[in-house]
Amino acid sequence: MKPKAYITRIIPEDALNIIARCCEYRIWESETQAVPRSVLEQNVQDADGLFTLLTEKIDKDLLDMAPRLKVVSNMAVGFDNIDVAECTKRGILVCNTPGVLTETTADLAWALLMAAARRITEAERFLRENKWTTWSPMLLTGMDIYGATLGIIGFGRIGQAVARRAKGFGMKVLYYNRTARPDLEASMGVRRATLEELLSTSDFVSIHVPLTEETRGMIGERELSLMKPTAVLVNTARGQVVDEEALCQALKERRIFAAGLDVFHEEPLPADSPLRDLDNVVLLPHIGSASIATRTKMAVMAAQNLIQALSGKRPEHVVNPEVLG
Ligand code: NAP
Ligand code: GLV
Repeated sequence: MKPKAYITRIIPEDALNIIARCCEYRIWESETQAVPRSVLEQNVQDADGLFTLLTEKIDKDLLDMAPRLKVVSNMAVGFDNIDVAECTKRGILVCNTPGVLTETTADLAWALLMAAARRITEAERFLRENKWTTWSPMLLTGMDIYGATLGIIGFGRIGQAVARRAKGFGMKVLYYNRTARPDLEASMGVRRATLEELLSTSDFVSIHVPLTEETRGMIGERELSLMKPTAVLVNTARGQVVDEEALCQALKERRIFAAGLDVFHEEPLPADSPLRDLDNVVLLPHIGSASIATRTKMAVMAAQNLIQALSGKRPEHVVNPEVLG
């Protein structure tokens, strides 16, 4: 008998074919709506494997309803939507998709950095709203990127990819990371700094830590107050790493120049979020890894992780390898 898998969204055909060859599967047939919790609860009851997205909360209550579950394969590198400790306790493997999305996400962090610094989305709105009456010396002026200082918080795969791009802009790069990376300091021409030094001396600060109990609220009122009034904050990591209310206030009072955000406390960003009223923030709907090629690779990798686990093989990307012994 084939193992049973539940897939929580329509996924690229290449990935679906991999699962279809090895599993009996059911799927939430939507592109635009996340699977309702009640539907997920019903479908985990006889599932051996779950193919999930970061929109699904895989918590203790859900796991209690899934006695056969052997693997949760997340189509994302981040896995803060999954209670990994609870999965490990039950011998359930958790898999993710590291690496394949690194460069695409770093590109987007740079798109946000540049858009916020040079007021790109604000300027485009200005033109479309027919406000462009003439060229004017200081109209829509922003911040220079070339030669500025970039501070990277979280110097892992994506943080390093963001740093590599800074070379072409003649930037000085500082990083703040849990683990020192002397191996990279010489080869990449970067320097480790304390969080305080990084925040107070950088012209651009880009966040690339995972969301954990240590990083939740890492950038709050105090940290924002250390930043230069001319600085730009970019967050493509997770919304909860930044105190969103404090950020909103800092932007409103022009205590920092601008921000570029791909991630939020609540996603989708609520219609009444005060961030929407500010002209010095660029807001994107969590599209960091959203290139056709990368999303396809992520789906295929998540499908392979799933079927490897279900066929008793060691999946290539396991978050909790201790389950395998
Ligand atoms: P990664 O390679 O694991 O890098 C994370 C880095 O953060 C590591 O260098 C790690 O340090 C550091 N770190 C962890 N906890 C820390 C702490 N408390 N203080 C300081 N540094 C800490 O992960 P990645 O592949 O670059 O991805 C990073 C995150 O980006 C993901 O977890 C995800 O949330 C987010 N992401 C978002 C999108 C999007 O669409 N917007 C796309 C992809 C990823 P160590 O070296 O000590 O481990
Ligand atoms: C996206 O946010 C990811 O973690 O892959």
